[in-house]
Amino acid sequence: MRTLIKGGTIVNADGTSKADILVDGERIVLIGEDLDVTADHTIDATGKWVIPGAIDVHTHMSLPFGGTVSKDDFETGSRAAAFGSTTTIIDFAVQPKGGSLRQGLDTWHAKADGKTCIDYGFHVIVSDVRDDVLDEMDALVDEGVTTFKLMTAYPGVFLSDDGSIFRAMLRTAENGGLVMMHAENGVAIDVVANANAEAGRTDPIWHGRSRYSIFEGDATSRVIRLAQAAKAPVYIVHMTAREALDAVRAARADGQPAFAETCPQYLTLNLDALGNGFEGAKYVCSPPLRPQEHVEELWKGLIHDDLQVVSTDHCPFDFVGQKELGRGDFRKIPNGVPAVENRVDLLHDGGVACGRFTPNRWVQLISSNPAHLFGLTHKGSVAVGYDADVVVYDPTRRHTISAKTHHMNVDYSCWEGREVVGGADVVMSHGKVIVDGDRWLGRPGDGRFIKRERSAYLE
Ligand code: URP
Ligand code: ZN
Repeated sequence: MRTLIKGGTIVNADGTSKADILVDGERIVLIGEDLDVTADHTIDATGKWVIPGAIDVHTHMSLPFGGTVSKDDFETGSRAAAFGSTTTIIDFAVQPKGGSLRQGLDTWHAKADGKTCIDYGFHVIVSDVRDDVLDEMDALVDEGVTTFKLMTAYPGVFLSDDGSIFRAMLRTAENGGLVMMHAENGVAIDVVANANAEAGRTDPIWHGRSRYSIFEGDATSRVIRLAQAAKAPVYIVHMTAREALDAVRAARADGQPAFAETCPQYLTLNLDALGNGFEGAKYVCSPPLRPQEHVEELWKGLIHDDLQVVSTDHCPFDFVGQKELGRGDFRKIPNGVPAVENRVDLLHDGGVACGRFTPNRWVQLISSNPAHLFGLTHKGSVAVGYDADVVVYDPTRRHTISAKTHHMNVDYSCWEGREVVGGADVVMSHGKVIVDGDRWLGRPGDGRFIKRERSAYLE
C-alpha cells in the first residue's frame, strides 16, 4: 500500500519545507517537491502542515488509584489520543509492592495487548528497590523498557526514600536507563494535608493549598542532587512550580543532564479551578494546579528549553462515582485529569497561535524531544526511513473542547467550552489512516509494543 501526501508543508523540529511525502507500507520512503510517483491513495494536504505523529510519554490507562481505576483503558485512551494527533503513548506499568518489575510489566502488557490502537511503550514505576529489582532493571533496559519512575510523593504507596532513589540512579548510570522522578515532598505534604482535613478544611481547594510549591522545589532540588552524585541523567515528570523549574535551570546551566516535562493542565489552568466547591474535584491532580505566576513561568521554561517535553499525565476519573469518592475529604479524591486528546491542540493554541514559540518548537516539545529522550529512534520526524506516523494538521481550524464531543471515556472536560485553534485532519499510524476528519478508521490491537533504545540525551 503506497500513500502520497501531496501539497503540504512539512514541519519538523529542525525545519520547515514544502514537499510531498511517499509512504510505502509502514515507512516514509521518499520526500521531494512535486513527486511524480504512482500511489494507491493520495491525501491532499494543500494549505496544511504535515507533522510527525505526536508522542505522549506520560499516560495512565487503567491505573488502579485511590480505590478505583482510571477510566480510559488502552482501547478508549489510545483512540482518543489518535483523535488528538498522538500516535504513540508511553504508559506506566506498576511494580506491585513486594513483587517484581516483571510482574508489573506482565500485568500492563495484558492490559494493552490486543486493545491499543496506536504504538505504545512502557516505563515501570519502581516502588520497592531491592537488589533483585536493580538486577531486573538491567534486563529490562536490554528488552526496551529503558525508563523507571520513582516518587518522593504518596507515602506508604509509591514513595521511595533517598537511599532507594540513589541506588536506582547509580544503576541507570551503569546500564544506560533513565530515572524519572515524581518530585514532591510527600511526607511534608501529608503533615499539612492532615492538619487541614482535621480542621474541617475538606474541599478540593485544600488539595492544592496543602501541596506547597516549595515542597515540589525541595524534592526536585534533592533528586537532582542525587542524580548529580550518581552521575546519572534525571527526568522530572509533570513539573508545575517555579521553585522546581529554578532547580532544573541551575542544574542545566551547570551542565548536568537534567530534563523535565510539564503538562497542558499546568499551562492553561490555575489553582482557581479547584475553588468552586466540590466541582473543583475535576481538577485534582498531583502536583496540583498552581497560582497564575507559576503558569507564566512554565511557558517561559518552554521557550528557553528549561523544559523539554509536554506530556499529559492522562489519568481520567469520572466526576460522578469516582471523583465523588472524595466528597467531604479532599485526600480521598482520585488524583488525575483527562488530557490525552487535548495536549497537542492546547499547546498549538497557547504556544504557536499566541506567538510564544515557532511551529518547529511545538513539534519538538510534542514529538521529537520525546522520541529522542525516550529512545524511539524511528519516530519524531517526518523523514525518509522513519515510521509513517504522520499527521496532516490544520493550524487554522477552530474548535470547541467539550465532553459531549471528546473521545476520552470520561464524563467531563477540564476545558469545557474553551475554543482552540488547530486540529488534526488526518492521522496516520505506521502507514494506515486511522483518523480522517471525524471518522475513526483504526482498530484495537493494531498498535504495537515498541522496544525502546536507551535515551539519546547526549546527542
Ligand atoms: O494526579 C496524578 N498525577 N495522577 C496520576 C498519578 C501520578 O502521580 O502520576
Ligand atoms: Zn503520572
